[in-house]
Amino acid sequence: MEVVIQPDAGAIATLVADEIERLLAARPDAVLGLATGSSPLAIYDELVRRHEAGRISFARARAFMLDEYVGLPDAHPERYRNVIDREIAGRVDFAPGAVQGPDGNAEDLVGACAAYEQAIADAGGVDLQILGIGTDGHIAFNEPGSSLGSRTRIKTLTSQTRLDNARFFDDDVDAVPVHCVTQGLATIMSARHLVLVATGSAKAEAVHHLVEGSVSAMWPATIMQHHPRATVLVDPAAASRLQLGDYYREVFAAKPAWQGI
Ligand code: F6R
Repeated sequence: MEVVIQPDAGAIATLVADEIERLLAARPDAVLGLATGSSPLAIYDELVRRHEAGRISFARARAFMLDEYVGLPDAHPERYRNVIDREIAGRVDFAPGAVQGPDGNAEDLVGACAAYEQAIADAGGVDLQILGIGTDGHIAFNEPGSSLGSRTRIKTLTSQTRLDNARFFDDDVDAVPVHCVTQGLATIMSARHLVLVATGSAKAEAVHHLVEGSVSAMWPATIMQHHPRATVLVDPAAASRLQLGDYYREVFAAKPAWQGI
């Protein structure tokens, strides 16, 4: 696992956008994995800037979302499908239908989860997966206790996650759905490059476990320690509980710039 400590979200976004620009230049039909929430927003803004500057095209790329709430009306602004359209998909040149997400309103949710797994496999798998991390250590919506071998399925959000996400629902925790459909930990682990971003002190404990803790379903993100190519980009506040912070800084400072992340 590579740990990259950067001064702020802008510097993190630059590095991640550099990697995506490199990927799309080499493989214009690459498959991206998109996260929702606050963490990736600076990355999406940077990608849009580069698209508008003519540096990046998504015209041949495809993308898969990580997760979706169950039961939000189709037009609800916080439905993740709508969030992704607003924050990135609708601001760049993805072809119609190129960005897919799990269907949280399907009549047959179990069947829809299986179909989503198949769609990812049919696309050849995800090349680069963007991830955030919950304060309880979840990635996508794989809450503590999730099977480390899980695939896309229905999950129940913890009260901590619903509290954390109430800010998107006018601070009304009761308006945050209880259930979601989410890629499983094994689904995420099948992506070829995992890129997790975290900023702020509220993420410090989860980041410490992710990077330096024991692999355990209690901190689901720790499964990433088994991934052959996982990059964790954090600001100083999110890095504040890392025991080897100075070492991670030295390693990245000594890395040739051409290698990227
Ligand atoms: C969202 C997702 C979640 C978030 C996590 C952090 O698609 O998969 O795992 O990444 O809850 O959320 P933020 O970035 O809002 O702190």
